This record gives sequence, C-alpha cells and structure tokens, in this order.
Amino acid sequence: MEKREHWGNSLGFILAASGSAVGLGNIWKFPYITGENGGAAFIIIYLICILIIGLPVLIAEILLGRKAQKGPVSALRSLAQKNKTLWVVIGSVFFLTGFIILSYYNVIAGWSIGYVVEALQGNLGTFSNAAEASQFNATLISNPSWVILWQFAFIALGAFIVYFGVRKGIERIAKFLMPIFFIILILLVIWGLSLDGSEKGLSFLFKPDWSTVRFGTVLMALGHAFFTLSVGMGVILTYGSYLNKKDNIFFSGIMIALLDTFIALLAGLAIFTAVFAMGFDPAGGPGLVFNVLPAVFSQMPGGSIFASLFFLLLSIAALTSTISILEMLVSTLMDEFKMNRHTVVILLSISIFILGIPSALSFGELEGVRIFGLSLFDSMDYLSANILMPLGGLFIALFVGWNLKREEVMGELFSGFRDGSGNRKLANSWYFLLKYIAPILIILVFLSSIGIIQ
Ligand code: PHE
Repeated sequence: MEKREHWGNSLGFILAASGSAVGLGNIWKFPYITGENGGAAFIIIYLICILIIGLPVLIAEILLGRKAQKGPVSALRSLAQKNKTLWVVIGSVFFLTGFIILSYYNVIAGWSIGYVVEALQGNLGTFSNAAEASQFNATLISNPSWVILWQFAFIALGAFIVYFGVRKGIERIAKFLMPIFFIILILLVIWGLSLDGSEKGLSFLFKPDWSTVRFGTVLMALGHAFFTLSVGMGVILTYGSYLNKKDNIFFSGIMIALLDTFIALLAGLAIFTAVFAMGFDPAGGPGLVFNVLPAVFSQMPGGSIFASLFFLLLSIAALTSTISILEMLVSTLMDEFKMNRHTVVILLSISIFILGIPSALSFGELEGVRIFGLSLFDSMDYLSANILMPLGGLFIALFVGWNLKREEVMGELFSGFRDGSGNRKLANSWYFLLKYIAPILIILVFLSSIGIIQ
C-alpha cells in the first residue's frame, strides 16, 4: 500500500480546503438564491446558519479525518465503537453522493471554461438585452458536442491534477490558483463599485427587508450552508486526513468558513452592483450568471475583458472544488481496496464522465426526460444537495457528538497544543452546537427539502 501523504504545511491545507468550499456554490448559486430570496435578510440568516451549524460540522469533519488518517469509509469503520456495518454503509453513501455531485457539477464547470473561450473570441460582448444573452446560452447548452466537449475537458483537467497526488497536485495548484482567484475577484468588485448606480446593489445586499422572510427562506439558507462549505459527504474529512497532528483543527476550520463566506459576499458585491447599475432583474434565477451577466457586460466598455475574467474566476472556483470531490473518491478506493492512485484516478474519471452525459444532455436532446417532474440535471442536484448532503451532515454530527467519547474528541482537538492550553470555552460551545443544535436543525432542513414541512 502507498504511504499516506500529508500537506506540506497548514496553509496548504487551508487553501486547498477553501478551494473546495469556494466553488460554483459561491459564485453561481449564492448570488441567485440571494436574489430570489430578498437580499440582505437572507444573507443574515445564511451567516447565522454557517456559524451555528456549518462551521461546527466542518470542524467535526476535519477532526474525524485527522484522527483516522483515512478516507471516509475506512475512517468511519475504524472509529465506530458499535454498529460498524451501519457506518460503513453511511460512508459508502458519502462516496455515492460525491460521485453524483461530480457528474453534474462538471457540466456547469464545463460551461464556464466554454464561456471563457467565447468571451475571449468577443462573443459575449454583443447583447442588447438579457433575452438575447439567454438565447445565446440556450443555443450553446443544447448543443451536445459543445457541452460534452467542455465537460470532458474539465474532468480531464481535474483528473490531471489529482493524478499527481496531495502535495504535488492538489496543494500546489491551490497555492497557485487561490491567489489568482482572489485578485480577479477584487478587480471585479472594484469595477462593480465604480459603476454609476452601484449603490442600489449595495443596499439590496446590506439593507435587510424582513417582510420577505418565510420559514422556507431559513431552510434554504441552512441547506446552502452545507453545500457551500462542502460538508456532509466526507470531502473535508478526506482533506483532514492529510493533516499533521500538530496542526490546529479549530483555527483551520474557522479560517475556511471565514474565507468561504467572505468570498461569497464579494462575489455578491461584484455581481449585484453590476446587475443593479445596468438595471437588470436581481431575481434572474439559476441563469443569473450565464444569462444576465453577459448582457450586463455587453453594455459597458471593456465588457469582453471583464466577461473573460469573470468566467475564468468561475472556472478556477469550480476546478478546486471538483478536485476535492475526486480526491475523496480516490482516497476511498485507495484505502478500501489498496489500489494504486493512478489506476483509480483514470477509472473514476471515465465513469464520472459517462454518468455525467445524461445531465449534460438534459438542456438539449434529453430535455423532455423527467424524473418526478425534474430534468435529469435537476434530479441529480436535488438528490445529492438536498437529500444526501443534509443527511450526511447529520450523521457526521451524530458520529462525533454521540459515537465518540467526549475526551477522545477533545484530545484530538487539542493534540496540537503541547501544553494542553487552547480555548476550552470555545471548544465546549462547539461541542454543544454539534451534539444538540446541529442535528435538530439538520432534521428540519431535511424534512423541508423532501417537502414534509414548508
Ligand atoms: N462547496 C462547493 C461549492 O460551493 C461545492 C462542493 C460540494 C464541493 C460538496 C465539494 C463537496 O461550489
């Protein structure tokens, strides 16, 4: 068996895990659900959810991975005190969730690099309104060779990075891409703020209107907290399993959640200042980024350049997230079946590509195929993000809160502090949130996402 790799340093871990967290969820999904759910009030609820549920589960996942030094299935098996088989089944569901998410996530990720190329050719700077931009988008995404080509290219890129392993592949690319990502984002924010009329965007983002808040809004925010932090399916657990014993789990977890949240807010700033300044509708739905933004870019000087930068930003965000999911799958198979990394990467990428084809075609050829009224793409998203991830998060919280002993958990949390100091009070509040509050709230999200309560 290959020896387990470790991150070169804790910055490498923080950047790789933030790269996983920051993804399409921050730049594509967060702005449009904020737009649809009334802006600032939604953002405040989302921030609370991150703090009291997302962050505690995130820290629990890092802790599990570091303690077990194994991928999800093997980690749960080796740490479970009883019901080992049940936990192995749950670990296998994590694997399945990752597999499903990766298959459709790569489709949208593929569109984003496809859009970089379109923008560089000047094709995204020519629209006089949002309808024209959506027409352009519809033509592209219903073209089977365009979608499959970019989906394939994206998977190949991710596979290429993961092939080189944790330190030489993932950590190296995260240290290279995350700063570039940040610079592009800051440029876009400055540009957005400099537009006439940007203040309307600012008040949409920062002045809460509580009259729009419903119970469903709260649950939407809670569900997104999971997706955006990548928690509930063993991805962060896997990254945690490459941590050294001296690294500080608590600090890393807080940094990752802070960076992810900060970046979602910056993406919201860049997008809504532009959308409002140009008089477009903030509630543009899932098509906000692909349908509305190109029209916004078309109205302004230098629009093509900003369009290329924006879609490059989206592609980078998606790439560092896809590699984290692929790595979770890879490490699971390596740990379980003592397989070799290179073989596993190739086998998995081919199967993910094949499984993703129906999702890729569901905006064209297969548009009419519906499962419970949802397109193939939407049903994959619904099953994984709304059902499997909240359940996964619940099981992580239950595992760390109820299956492990409190001393074991605290021992692992503070193993990096040689003198045994470390903030006990903070750790106690974390433990309380994880053991009681998070499970109850997650059950609520889950019930709402399957439509039992509304
Ligand atoms: N957190 C990523 C995003 O916001 C998505 C993701 C989900 C990545 C689950 C890994 C695991 O886009």
